[in-house]
Amino acid sequence: MKDGYKWVGFQYEFTGRVYSFGRIPRCKTAMLKHLKPGQKLLVAGAGHGTEAIEAAQMGVDVTVVDLSATMLKHCRTRMDQCTEAAACMTCIHDDIFNLQKTETYDMVLANFFLNVFPEQRVDDVANHLATLVKPGGYFVVGEFVLPEKGMAGLFQNLNWYLAILFYSATTEATLHPVHDYAGLVRQSGCEIQDIEYFTILGLRLYWSILGKKPVRPPAVNP
Ligand SMILES: C[S@@+](CC[C@H](N)C(=O)[O-])C[C@H]1O[C@@H](n2cnc3c(N)ncnc32)[C@H](O)[C@@H]1O
Repeated sequence: MKDGYKWVGFQYEFTGRVYSFGRIPRCKTAMLKHLKPGQKLLVAGAGHGTEAIEAAQMGVDVTVVDLSATMLKHCRTRMDQCTEAAACMTCIHDDIFNLQKTETYDMVLANFFLNVFPEQRVDDVANHLATLVKPGGYFVVGEFVLPEKGMAGLFQNLNWYLAILFYSATTEATLHPVHDYAGLVRQSGCEIQDIEYFTILGLRLYWSILGKKPVRPPAVNP
C-alpha cells in the first residue's frame, strides 16, 4: 500500500503543533465533547492519532483508518503507551474508501484530512465519510479556514500555502486553494450545528465544523 508519509511522517505532529502555536491539536480535539463513553468514533486519515487517543481515554470506542504505515506506526506507539486508550482503539491500515460501514459511527472525524485531496475528488471523500455516520450522528471537519476578503485573507492564504507547498512537495497531497469545508459538510447532507475557530493574534486560522446528520434524510425534490 502506498505510504505518502514515509519520509516526513515522523515530524508531522510535532511540526503542526509548533507551526500553529498549539492551535492545530486544540482544533483536532474541539468537538470530542459531543461524545459519550461507549459511543463509536471513526477518525479518518488519523495520522499520529492525537484526537483518537484523547477520545479513547474518555471511554469512546475508537477506530482509526490511515493509508500510511508510517503514520499508523506513530499512532500505535502512542496508543501502546496508554493502556486505557489501547483497550478502546482499533487501527485499520487501509484506504478510507474500502471502509463501507454505512451508518455505523456516532461521529466521523476528518481532521486535516480533506485538504490532501484535489478539488475534483474532495466532494466524493466528504460524501463517503458522511455515509458512515449514523442518522443523528456527527460529521466533524477540522481544517484551515476559508480565507476571508482583505488583509485577513492574505495571512490566511499565507498560512495555508506555506503548509501545502511543503506537503505537496513531500507527500501525495495536492496543491490547491483552501476548500470550502463548511460547504462540503452541508453538501454531504449534514446540518452545521457549531463552528469553533482557532486564532493567532485575533486572526482566524483553523476551524472545527460540527455537522449533524439528520435522523431522516431530507425529502429529495423530483
Ligand atoms: C495531512 S495528514 C493529517 C493527519 C491527521 N489527521 C492530523 O490531523 O494530524 C493526512 C492523513 O490522511 C492519510 N490519508 C490520505 N489519503 C488517505 C486515504 N485515501 N485513506 C486513508 N487515509 C488517507 C495520510 O496517510 C495522512 O496520515
